[in-house]
Amino acid sequence: MDLYHKDVVSITDFSKDDIEGILDMAEKMIPYARGEKIKRSLDGKILGNLFFEPSTRTKLSFESAAYRLGCDVIDVSEMSMTSMAKGETLADTIKIVDSYCDATVLRHPYEGAARLAAKFSDHPVINAGDGAGSHPTQTLLDLFTMRQSKGSLDNLNIVLVGDLKYGRTVHSLAHALNKFNMKITLVAPEGLMMPDEIISHLEANGCRPVITEYLDDAVANADVLYVTRIQRERFPDPSEYQKVAGTYRIDKALLEKAKSDMIVMHPLPRVNEIAPEVDDTPNAKYFQQAANGVPVRMALLNGLLGGEF
Ligand code: CP
Repeated sequence: MDLYHKDVVSITDFSKDDIEGILDMAEKMIPYARGEKIKRSLDGKILGNLFFEPSTRTKLSFESAAYRLGCDVIDVSEMSMTSMAKGETLADTIKIVDSYCDATVLRHPYEGAARLAAKFSDHPVINAGDGAGSHPTQTLLDLFTMRQSKGSLDNLNIVLVGDLKYGRTVHSLAHALNKFNMKITLVAPEGLMMPDEIISHLEANGCRPVITEYLDDAVANADVLYVTRIQRERFPDPSEYQKVAGTYRIDKALLEKAKSDMIVMHPLPRVNEIAPEVDDTPNAKYFQQAANGVPVRMALLNGLLGGEF
């Protein structure tokens, strides 16, 4: 697939081959992401980073990815510091930012914001998380990490646990897993299961996810345990959050019930759903996963902006 000038709004816009092509390019980017080799393939380009919700990994890894390739970055991190605070629409804001840069990365609290931004932008728009919607570039680095650890993405047995209702990373990931014929188990507290439309989409594409509240049983045959935070900020009623906070906690006792080579992933930030004692086990891949944000986003930016590599 030629990525040049494409929007990255949903992972469903990408085929299995497209995804594997990006992951292959990300592999080549690793020594450049670490600063061991230097290539300024995007010299003279400008990336616009608009983050209207908090972010550590996505924002900074996009910036790092851009700078590693010689691309400059302009950014805003607070809606209150833009003219949207004076009543300007998102559409007008995007048109203006688009005229100042070669691609826009947008994180926004509302689902659908990236799709709307893409409509009003001549240059590529990259969805860096739209409310409880999706987070396609996180999915790319998740898949990259799984492939790095497991050698292949095909036919893995994966358990997604936590807040599957509001967690946008698992929404994107579920769509992608289906392309690789993975066996999917969904583990969530009552009221936080994966939205019906995503489950229906999986089923329409031949996947029959196992749905359960019981994590201990689910991990027994898992190759990958993908943990998510309960998304407190998305609960309309804080007391509802308190009812489910702390439902699942990954610790060494749980790992004893799993295969010794099961990997534990998490998009981060974590709150208390993974005990720190897990960090030093060979199963823990979540910090490596976050670091992989740089080579994966380098591959993406280089493709979208037409860098020679
Ligand atoms: N995984 C992720 O999206 O992290 P940030 O919210 O820190 O960007």
